[in-house]
Amino acid sequence: MTEPRDRLFDHPGPVGDFVFDAAVARVFPDMISRSVPGYAAIINMIELLTSMHAQAGTQLYDLGCSLGAASIAMARGLTHSDCRIIAVDNAPAMLEKAREHSRKLDAPGIDFHLADIRDVALENASVVVLNFTLQFLPREERARLLQGIREGLSPGGILILSEKISGETPRADAALVAMHHAFKRQQGYSDLEISQKRSALERVLQPETLDAHMQRLRDVGFNQAHVWFQCFNFVSIVARV
Ligand SMILES: C[S@@+](CC[C@H](N)C(=O)[O-])C[C@H]1O[C@@H](n2cnc3c(N)ncnc32)[C@H](O)[C@@H]1O
Repeated sequence: MTEPRDRLFDHPGPVGDFVFDAAVARVFPDMISRSVPGYAAIINMIELLTSMHAQAGTQLYDLGCSLGAASIAMARGLTHSDCRIIAVDNAPAMLEKAREHSRKLDAPGIDFHLADIRDVALENASVVVLNFTLQFLPREERARLLQGIREGLSPGGILILSEKISGETPRADAALVAMHHAFKRQQGYSDLEISQKRSALERVLQPETLDAHMQRLRDVGFNQAHVWFQCFNFVSIVARV
């Protein structure tokens, strides 16, 4: 079945802040795959990384799960039957679709929770996914969340952290943004859609540099962090305790 096409920003008009409401939930699979270069590859690799790192008797967390694409990938990658997958999102419309999707795809065994990820106490975790979610938290609250994740990971556990980043200098940032916008044009978005979506996200999605992410991971006690994926201004990192 083809997913409904994202046309949310194709009419000129006043643009409010971006929210994960029912209109976004309806078109989200199309929106994210045409907006995040490499999204499908990242989801596939979450399945692979889960198969490598999930440990028997542990919990796996998908924080900011949206429609559950990463949770379903984790379920597919799991080889242990005694693990729990806990998927959390604070947007009711997204979570409702996530439950619907996992039923349709016959991916049982995922516990979907409507909650703020800042209120989740992680424990006995072997794989934690933050796939393009940390960027929506106020910057000053990011370290506390990562610290909680680090404390909740069991030895050998991993955090998969994917983020939109900003360039280290204004010039580097402009180059990354130009490539990302060219990608969006190639995916069929018009200049109007690109610029209106950008305005909508401006106050709610606050990217940081790769250096800032790596430094924070070290500061909260992750011993290793590696970039395993980058396309333009989108990166994914594996961090280990
Ligand atoms: C870009 S989407 C994440 C995409 C998703 N992880 C995937 O792989 O398809 C960001 C999600 O994070 C959720 N979110 C943002 N802040 C949150 C918070 N404080 N607590 C829970 N969910 C949050 C939003 O509702 C949204 O569904």
